Amino acid sequence: MTIGLEGDTSASLRARPIDVSAERSRTIGAAGRHYFNAAGSGLMTDAVIEAMVLHLRLEQRMGGYEAATLRAPELAAGYEAAAALLGARPDEIAFFDSATSGLRAVFDALRLGDGDTVLAPRSSYVSQALRMLALSRYDGVRLRIIETDGTGAMDLDALESELASAPGRTVISAVHIPTSSGLVEPVAEIGALGRRYGALTVLDATQSVGHLEIDVTLLDCDALVTTGRKYVRGPRGTGFVYLRAGMLDGIGGWAPDVRGSVWTGAEEWTMDDTARRLETWEFSVAARLGLGVALGEAIERGAAQTEAHLVSSGTRLRDGLADIAGVSVTDPRASPSGLVTFTVDGVAGKGVSAQLREARIDSISVPAGHAQWDLGARGLASVVRVSPHVYNDDDDTAALLRHVAGIAREASR
Ligand SMILES: Cc1ncc(COP(=O)(O)O)c(C=O)c1O
Repeated sequence: MTIGLEGDTSASLRARPIDVSAERSRTIGAAGRHYFNAAGSGLMTDAVIEAMVLHLRLEQRMGGYEAATLRAPELAAGYEAAAALLGARPDEIAFFDSATSGLRAVFDALRLGDGDTVLAPRSSYVSQALRMLALSRYDGVRLRIIETDGTGAMDLDALESELASAPGRTVISAVHIPTSSGLVEPVAEIGALGRRYGALTVLDATQSVGHLEIDVTLLDCDALVTTGRKYVRGPRGTGFVYLRAGMLDGIGGWAPDVRGSVWTGAEEWTMDDTARRLETWEFSVAARLGLGVALGEAIERGAAQTEAHLVSSGTRLRDGLADIAGVSVTDPRASPSGLVTFTVDGVAGKGVSAQLREARIDSISVPAGHAQWDLGARGLASVVRVSPHVYNDDDDTAALLRHVAGIAREASR
C-alpha cells in the first residue's frame, strides 16, 4: 500500500490543485448520479473496494486469522497513515468501528463522576450529547452548554468564564464541524483555552478529517475522534481516535480487552502503553484495510488542496442557493466549510431530499433530533444538507441548483 508520506509536503504537491476528472474516473459512484452526501458517507474509490474484496477472498481461502497475519504490514501502515493525516504519531492512534465508539471509549476512560464538569458546544452531535446528558443524569457530572457568539460559533468568552469557575476536573467536548451546519468551530482557540485552565479537550472531528487540513499539535487537543466513511472516503464500520501520548497517564481502569491488555495473573493485568489499549480484539480486517487505502489516497491528494477545493465548493453552493427565491441558507456566518445546509419554504427537509433523489441527486435531511442544541434551539425542524467532495463537478453543482430552484418554484405556487 502506498501512503504517500514522503511526497505530500513537497512544494510541487502542495501547489497541485485537485484533479476532479481523475477523481471521478476512479470513483464509479460519481457517474450517473449527482452525489452530495460526503457528510453522510463519502464515495469510495475503486482501490478501496479492491483492497477489501481481495481480503475477503483471502479470508475465504485461508481463514480469518491467517489472512490477517499475511496483511500485518498493511495493517501497521494504517496507523502510520492515520497519524500522518492528523500530524500525530502512530502510537497515538487507535482504530474503532465508528466515531461514536471512539468517543465512548475516550469518555469511559476518563471515568467522569460527581463534581467533574463537561463543557459542550451547541454544535454537539446527537450521540455525544446524549452520552453527556446521561453522564449528567446518572453520574453527577456538571454539564454546561456554551452559548454561541454573533457568528454562530462557540463563544470563547463564555467558555473561558466556565473554565475559570469550574470546580473540579473539566473536559471540553469540542466539535470541529457539526452534523447540522457548515460551521467551523474555533477549535485551536478552544484547545488553547482548555490548556490554559488545565482542562482536557476531546475533539469530535468526524466531519472535518479528510475535509480540512488538521494538525493535532496546532489544535492543542488531548484526543480527537473521527469516522472513516465520510470525508476520508473509507468504508462504513470504521473510525479512529488520536490520543495524545501523555493523555493516558493515570487513566486506565476501564473495560480492558485482550487487544490492548495482557492478563498476567489471577487478578492482575497490564495494558499496552499506546493508544491501542482502547481498542477491542475484533474488527473487520477487510474494512480496516480499505480504510488504510482511503487514508493513503487522502494524504496523496493533499489535505491543504482538499480543504481549499471543498471550501470553495461550499461557498459556490451557498452563493447559488442564496440566489434562489424561497430558499434560505441555514449555515451560520462562521461557516467556511464544504458542508452546506438550507431550507425550502413550505417543504420539509425530507420532502426536498426525496424530490432531489428522483433527479438522481443525493442529499440528506438532518432533523432537529440529530442536533437539538443547534437546530432545535434555532427553531428548525430539519435542514437539507449537501456535502460535495473532490469527485463533484460543475455539472453536479448546476443540476443541484436547478432542481432546488424547481422545488422552491413549485412550492410557492
Ligand atoms: C459531527 C458528528 N459527530 C459524530 C458523528 C457520529 O459518527 P459515527 O456514525 O461514525 O459514530 C457524526 C455522524 O454523522 C457527526 O456528524
